[in-house]
Amino acid sequence: MASTKRILITGGAGFIGSHVVRYFVNAAPHYQIINLDALTYAGNLENLKDIQDKPNYTFVKGDICDAALVNAIFQEHAIDAVIHLAAESHVDRSISNPLAFVQTNVMGTATLLNAARSAWHGNYDGKLFYHVSTDEVYGSLGETGFFYETTAYDPRSPYSASKAASDHLVMAFYHTYHMPVVISNCSNNYGPNHFPEKLIPLSINNIIQNKPLPIYGKGENVRDWLYVIDHASAIFTIFEKGRIGETYNIGGHNEWKNIDLIHLLCKIMDKKLNREAGSSEKLITYVTDRAGHDLRYAIDATKLKDELGWMPSLQFEEGLEKTVDWYLENQEWLNHVTSGSYASYYETQYHNR
Ligand code: NAD
Ligand code: TYD
Repeated sequence: MASTKRILITGGAGFIGSHVVRYFVNAAPHYQIINLDALTYAGNLENLKDIQDKPNYTFVKGDICDAALVNAIFQEHAIDAVIHLAAESHVDRSISNPLAFVQTNVMGTATLLNAARSAWHGNYDGKLFYHVSTDEVYGSLGETGFFYETTAYDPRSPYSASKAASDHLVMAFYHTYHMPVVISNCSNNYGPNHFPEKLIPLSINNIIQNKPLPIYGKGENVRDWLYVIDHASAIFTIFEKGRIGETYNIGGHNEWKNIDLIHLLCKIMDKKLNREAGSSEKLITYVTDRAGHDLRYAIDATKLKDELGWMPSLQFEEGLEKTVDWYLENQEWLNHVTSGSYASYYETQYHNR
């Protein structure tokens, strides 16, 4: 019989975290999942409605920076493993409020690591601290080349710098205290439950509402997009089979210039909304570029494929259609997350741009 584990997943009410929680709860009923999430603007328990009553799932509302709470969770639930996703995750917000990113991403990660160190007390049998990170720690590529696990860190936004710092802390706990850790650095995700401050869901929401589609600069920046459930399956694979002390890059082999991606999205949306072909494209509006805008991200995920046999399952066109279908079928979700503080965020971010 598969051995049981009690796994603390942080940030499990967010975009990627909710898919990871669902994946583990369903794929591994022998694991107990404890989801710790502060429910910031990005956290939403509606994302987890379908699994909230499962016997192997528990939700705890709280802040990863709260050492007393985190220590108590380790004790009460006898935590064997951590999968750490809680973070401030939006680059534009990191430009306007960098300290929030240092607090959550750096101090929060340090707090969790330290709680694991105290609770496990050097007895690391069957223990694992899995840190979920981003390819943005590697900086910005030119027109060619890829990010490898050996690429030197060169973060350029407060977001990526805070994630880089957290990755370094995780490796420091591995080397200094011999804590069993693993890190994955993933490319841009897309899919259901993505908060509409990021390019794809923001554009879907704006097309539905016939609002301008803000494209930063010339729209020539390139991102490598991965369907979020493929990211969840990669995390499951690495959790089960990854080597301790290693980093794994996760990517979609799927590079798109922002403007080309938006053209494709406009085409899909016109069809789904029964609008005349070309009508959504008319909403494209070029706006002032993001400060320090990284030109290109592209992941080489050969290590993950060769060592652990993981590959993405979906082609981009198929994933994007599924994503659009989800947003059209879940407009109530969209209405809920865009009520309240979203309007003032949008006004501050895009006014006079
Ligand atoms: P998200 O912003 O959608 O969700 C973050 C979650 O963390 C939310 O539920 C929020 O409530 C929670 N949270 C924030 N601060 C907290 C705190 N102090 N204590 C407890 N919970 C807190 O983010 P996401 O896009 O799902 O990203 C999840 C992780 O994956 C992050 O670590 C991010 O750096 C990483 N990542 C994201 C992408 C991407 O494309 N979105 C790509 C690679 C890696
Ligand atoms: P984003 O979804 O914020 O992810 P990240 O910055 O982490 O890659 O942005 C993806 C790309 O889209 C990035 O090059 C910035 C660009 N972008 C726009 O052109 N307009 C927008 O309104 C947003 C949010 C992003």
